[in-house]
Amino acid sequence: MAARVLQVDPVAPAPAVIAEAAAVLRAGGLVAFPTETVYGLGGNAIDDAAVARIFAAKGRDPSDPVIVHLADRRDLGDLVRELPAPAQLLAARFWPGPLTLVLPRAERVPPRVSAGLPTVAVRVPSHPVARALIAAAGVPVAAPSANLFGRTSPTTAAHVLADLGDRIDVVLDGGPTPAGVESTVVAFEGEEVVVLRPGATPVEELSRCLAEAGFRPPRLVERGPQAGSPGLLARHYAPRVPLVLLRGPERERLQWLRAALAARPDRRIGLLLSDEELRALSPLAPEHRARPLGPRSHPEVAARRLFAAMRELEAEGVELIYATDPDPAGLGLAVADRLRRAAEEVVEVGRTQEGS
Ligand code: TXA
Ligand code: MG
Repeated sequence: MAARVLQVDPVAPAPAVIAEAAAVLRAGGLVAFPTETVYGLGGNAIDDAAVARIFAAKGRDPSDPVIVHLADRRDLGDLVRELPAPAQLLAARFWPGPLTLVLPRAERVPPRVSAGLPTVAVRVPSHPVARALIAAAGVPVAAPSANLFGRTSPTTAAHVLADLGDRIDVVLDGGPTPAGVESTVVAFEGEEVVVLRPGATPVEELSRCLAEAGFRPPRLVERGPQAGSPGLLARHYAPRVPLVLLRGPERERLQWLRAALAARPDRRIGLLLSDEELRALSPLAPEHRARPLGPRSHPEVAARRLFAAMRELEAEGVELIYATDPDPAGLGLAVADRLRRAAEEVVEVGRTQEGS
């Protein structure tokens, strides 16, 4: 059955619309909704059957745990067994907002949510629609990104419908999501904070907050066995066409791209590049399709556009996408992470030693 699409004002959601979607959640149904990061696929987190339905709809592996969303930080007590000091600090400073904390799981949370792990990932989103929906449902809401397994996260209701339109009950359409990349996920090892996934809360802000309270800066983990090395990577946020990611000094990247594009003016090639890079490469051949990711100094623009741009290039029928590595500052770190995970191949240019 096709999902019901309910239009909703992203700033001041109408209570009647929210109540309708909340009733679906309470009855064990699935509701996709906008958050400040990407659209989530929500179900009642303490209803094991609803959680099972989330995994089935996405085609998600049961070994990959999902995030539980709360309307308020005070609801945390029921879901976690303890709150380490740095977690308490980060929750107070960054919630509501795009930060997910991995904490010891309480009995009340079905093991399926956490893929059997002793922990549970929790966040309090700041998007008015998400907050209103969770509050009206009166239950914690388990919600992975509302895409099919292996596809890029949805930043519009149209993306959700393209992937899951016949597998879920309701889509709350609140327009494009503001950040465009998923939340930052952190775990705790004693007093050490570990970043499992860079995301919409910049790591620099976490560092600053922790330092002010006398904690060490967070440690970044490399995701996946090969994530730190060039070549073939575990693809996760993959577009349906091969993406080649260029890394290295800007001048060499441009030289490489110029040569690659000049060699194949007849091929439909997609370009996911900064405004500056696209200017330097213009004019492009008519077959080449550009998606500007904004100025290099503003990676938050790239974050907002990235996933939609990948889907648009696919829809335009490109056979190959070239992208370049953004500077890893601010949201650039999350964008770089998603590009690496989307890449079929990483090309290091202008370096004599691979992987240095
Ligand atoms: O911004 C977001 O986080 C979005 C919106 C909808 O809130 N959600 C999202 O969920 O991106 P998902 O399921 O696509 O990604 C959840 C991430 C995965 O990398 C998962 O492995 C990790 O969080 N995760 C969830 N529970 C965990 C746990 N108990 N321990 C470690 N990692 C966990
Ligand atoms: Mg996801």
